[in-house]
Amino acid sequence: MITKVMDVTGEPINIEHIKEASQILKNGGLVAFPTETVYGLGGDATDKEASRKIYQAKGRPSDNPLIVHISKFEQLESISSQLPETAKKLADAFWPGPLTMVVNKNEVIPYETTGGLDTVAVRMPNNPVALSLINESGCMIAAPSANTSGRPSPTKASHVYEDLAGKIDAILDGGSVDIGLESTIVDLTEDVVTILRPGYINMEMLKEVVGEVKIDPGIVYNDKGTTSGARPKAPGMRYKHYAPKGDLTIVSGEEQKVVSAINDMTATDMKNGKKVGIIATAATAEKYTAGSILVIGNRDDEKSIAHNLYDILRQFDEIGVDIIYSESFATPHIGQAIMNRLLKAAGQKTIEL
Ligand code: TXA
Ligand code: MG
Repeated sequence: MITKVMDVTGEPINIEHIKEASQILKNGGLVAFPTETVYGLGGDATDKEASRKIYQAKGRPSDNPLIVHISKFEQLESISSQLPETAKKLADAFWPGPLTMVVNKNEVIPYETTGGLDTVAVRMPNNPVALSLINESGCMIAAPSANTSGRPSPTKASHVYEDLAGKIDAILDGGSVDIGLESTIVDLTEDVVTILRPGYINMEMLKEVVGEVKIDPGIVYNDKGTTSGARPKAPGMRYKHYAPKGDLTIVSGEEQKVVSAINDMTATDMKNGKKVGIIATAATAEKYTAGSILVIGNRDDEKSIAHNLYDILRQFDEIGVDIIYSESFATPHIGQAIMNRLLKAAGQKTIEL
């Protein structure tokens, strides 16, 4: 299969490309498209076959459910049974935006899309290309991140192409995404709203709208790097994910100590014939003495760190480093989401100084 790449970066959006992509979706094909978080790999959410194709293209386990992307709140009502009041409140506050809600499903969305679950994850993305694709196709679009399973999520069309060229019908290239980390997922099927995956919409923002909010014990790590032992409720959070080929360790502590520890370890590793990569910030980059040093962003601008994380992990794969050291980024607003992804990429390996 030849994967057609269509440029939708200009304004107004090239509607011919949106129409062509919509036709592919209506015919049961797959189209990757930009959202404000990461690129998604879309298929008609009501079409079992399309969902099967998504799993196959990604090499994704079929028990890991897909997120359904919509453009109108009524679509959520049309696919859920017993919609709680909190859904409307959260939608008013955060949609379109990087929040996914898990609700009880009815028969409209097939089990192939929900990985066999009786619940469905739904989100209204805040990206003009995504919204016009949903509107033009008339489809609710099932879309996981458009990466090969186990690789970092794609934040540029070129990342999608790297992973999925030849396996999907088309890619809508909308340029670099805005946030760069996947949406916050909340479970609305129990009494208290529960965060299943942290993202840009953080705990404080959710509390302001719904009051009490819990975090799934299955995704909380203690300072020894292990979870409480509880099983994460979002199936995707159970898999090893976002893993770079190089062995990643996070080093945290006072800046000067972190820099010298990383310099020492890098020197030793290089003596042992290893290729080393370092994830630095604009402020520390020039203090590192060896290795492939990539700047993730600026600590004063935490959005820059979220935005560049996956691209940097992919760059290290390309360079082919054996070992990666990263500083820690427990920043105020998005820090929980950044560290959740970074810790997973590191298999929880951290050194605290
Ligand atoms: O920002 C995002 O959410 C991106 C863009 C494309 O919208 N999508 C995304 O999809 O990150 P994916 O498939 O990579 O991650 C979906 C996550 C998985 O961890 C999956 O297990 C969880 O959502 N999920 C989906 N349906 C669920 C459900 N019914 N109950 C619990 N978790 C669910
Ligand atoms: Mg994913």
